[in-house]
Amino acid sequence: MMHIGLDIGTNYTKATADGSKVITFPSLVVYGEEKEWSLKGEAEREVYVGEEASYMAQNMENVEVLRPLHEGRLMHSSYIELAKHALEMLNISDGKFVATGLPVKSSKKERAELVDELKNALRCDVLLLPQPVGSMAHMDINTGVCIDIGFGTTDIIVLADMEYLKGDTLLVGVDKIYESMEMTIRNRFGITITPEEMTRLLSEESFRVGKVRGGKKIAVSREDVIDEYNQLMKSWVERIVNRVNMLLEGLSISLVENIVLTGGGAKLPGVEDQFREHFREIGDIQIPDDPVTANARGFYKLAKLYAGEQKSESKELEQKTEEETKKRGRRKK
Ligand SMILES: Nc1ncnc2c1ncn2[C@@H]1O[C@H](COP(=O)(O)OP(=O)(O)OP(=O)(O)O)[C@@H](O)[C@H]1O
Ligand SMILES: [Mg+2]
Repeated sequence: MMHIGLDIGTNYTKATADGSKVITFPSLVVYGEEKEWSLKGEAEREVYVGEEASYMAQNMENVEVLRPLHEGRLMHSSYIELAKHALEMLNISDGKFVATGLPVKSSKKERAELVDELKNALRCDVLLLPQPVGSMAHMDINTGVCIDIGFGTTDIIVLADMEYLKGDTLLVGVDKIYESMEMTIRNRFGITITPEEMTRLLSEESFRVGKVRGGKKIAVSREDVIDEYNQLMKSWVERIVNRVNMLLEGLSISLVENIVLTGGGAKLPGVEDQFREHFREIGDIQIPDDPVTANARGFYKLAKLYAGEQKSESKELEQKTEEETKKRGRRKK
């Protein structure tokens, strides 16, 4: 039996089959259009996923690029393509148990449908959890709060002894701060930059985003934009903190001693410090070793744990039935 931790995010899909090595690819899907001519007689591909989809999005016109998870909602068929692609990359075929996650505020109907579709498409057992549970499991924290700042959503949960108490999904993620930054840079320098460039610009001191504009070279460095960034980041963190505070209102203090901050947003400069400052009086902020892959690695742990439990449950059941049969047999005699 193979165990798999699968975290399909708005921007990146992360998956692992051993709990440490994590594969990552863009959560993008392109369905191939029928070409008017095919000169090499190649069989037409129907679907492009991950890096290939990203390449097509950048280099071809008229292709519709799908983001299967958007604003916390999912598009089923393309979502399944991401899951399949992840298993292909991990070289997994049969006998598997997949633990994966959805935003906290996904609907029950959506979840039930997704589990069915995943089971059918991947021919495997599926355990579906609220996304931030992965990071909590990864850090072996059973009671506490987890704030998962992803690209499209921020998911918050409160767990008590590994049981869900309450949670929320905000449609505020790294995307919101990147959009404002992108606009600032466009207005000031006249160039557009991608989210990937933005991540590097903000986190690498020596990185320059350079573009040609009107016959000139324009380069932007971290120094050029850091003041605007700090201002935006602080009010963005406040927005998230306000929502977290609403959720924590009235809770027993023993539940909030551990506050985990995870997801790519936790790695943005200054964010950790801001959270620490806001929650100074409530609890300690902890960040997993790699917040981007922590959910996937935690899901892997839970897949192993849960698959084991299911096995022992079914063994118990087998034993019981065996005993029953024996008893009945004896009675007959
Ligand atoms: N140092 C960093 N390393 C990686 N990503 C970073 C870093 N700093 C900022 N980011 C940004 O954080 C974003 C969020 O990452 P994450 O993988 O947690 O989101 P997601 O899981 O795709 O989205 P969601 O959870 O909302 O569905 C990344 O897409 C990236 O733009
Ligand atoms: Mg995520």
